[in-house]
Amino acid sequence: MPQPAANLAKLPPYLFAEIDRKIAEAKARGVDIISLGVGDPDLPTPDPIVKAMQEAVAVPANHNYPPYHGTVELRNAATNWMKTRFGVTVDPETEVMSLIGSKEGLAHLILAYVNPGDVVLCPSPGYPVYNNYTLLCHGEPYVVPLLAQNKFLPDLSKIPADIAKRAKLFFLNYPNNPTGAIIDEAKIKEIVAFCRENDILLCHDNAYSEMTFDGYRAPSFLSVEGAKDVCIEMFSLSKMYNMTGWRVGFATGNPAAIKALGTVKNNTDSGVFKAIQHAAAVGLDMSDELTKDLNTIYSRRRDIFVEGLNRLGWDCPKNEATFYLWVPVPTGMKSVEFVSMLLEKCGVVVPPGTGYGPEGEGFFRVALTVPDDRLKEVLARMEREGVTFKQLAKQGAPA
Ligand SMILES: Cc1ncc(COP(=O)(O)O)c(C=O)c1O
Repeated sequence: MPQPAANLAKLPPYLFAEIDRKIAEAKARGVDIISLGVGDPDLPTPDPIVKAMQEAVAVPANHNYPPYHGTVELRNAATNWMKTRFGVTVDPETEVMSLIGSKEGLAHLILAYVNPGDVVLCPSPGYPVYNNYTLLCHGEPYVVPLLAQNKFLPDLSKIPADIAKRAKLFFLNYPNNPTGAIIDEAKIKEIVAFCRENDILLCHDNAYSEMTFDGYRAPSFLSVEGAKDVCIEMFSLSKMYNMTGWRVGFATGNPAAIKALGTVKNNTDSGVFKAIQHAAAVGLDMSDELTKDLNTIYSRRRDIFVEGLNRLGWDCPKNEATFYLWVPVPTGMKSVEFVSMLLEKCGVVVPPGTGYGPEGEGFFRVALTVPDDRLKEVLARMEREGVTFKQLAKQGAPA
């Protein structure tokens, strides 16, 4: 057999493959594992979407190849949603494209833009696809640190001028996975100006735009004046309406970027099943109604877990968005060391911060994807086993 492409060897092992292996091992030992690992909602897709799908799947006209850039119905629903939700005007013909989930769009955008040696600005910690697909395309990821002292926002003044000039793409994601951080308009303006000045395509991954709490509403980068000249934004229905398995999202923004992405897709995939596009359009049309109840559940889980961790000695704020908590490991411990201990002592699975890039050291991520009673059980096990911030910080602190 020939060897796979050399680029494959540059990739770190897929984070969740390693987590799945550890879970399987512990389960085989009979441990009652609680996984707060993968960001995959535990709740079902809302009824109106499921019903729309059930009807659409029976319609023969939906059974053939879909238009690769999306049905008129979905592109119109996305256009209306951008207008009502963010006040952003986009052209459904040239500025909107359906995606087989936003992960597909992110990866194919890199394929559409990156020549060997091109620089791609990738946040760290960040969603691993930005970095890894850049490597697959022979590009050079440049780590843009997202640090706690900067509220997990990029410090543009630290990006060297020569790197900025060589950069083709800049990936950002707010509300942020894994940190739960949010961004304000002033910072978006600064980033847009930076990308205009350096001729960089800004890709804003807005997968968590609707998962917000306490009255906070997340912005679209495209709502900033002039953003569309340099920005494409990816939206995902996966987390919005518990549809991770359905594989549907859309890209919107700069028409040249949409066209380039479409050229890759046209030669790679054949679009999203039309019945799914119909169900997605139904979801977008009743978005606020569908997300309200979900966000009530997630904010309650957040309250339970943050308050519980703080009782165990942590000092965690309550984030206003995403179902992730980005929690520091006790002083003196490494991320991997802490998560291994949590699995061994408590049967609880969380990914180490380092799974999201080098700047993730010192943290672990919690996905609030289990019911309240299981979260309480995690906290009870931690207390019982002495996995508390104060106790471990004392033991692990450097001399
Ligand atoms: C930041 C971010 N972007 C994109 C995705 C991909 O979502 P999907 O491909 O399901 O739309 C995820 C999924 O976890 C994510 O966390």
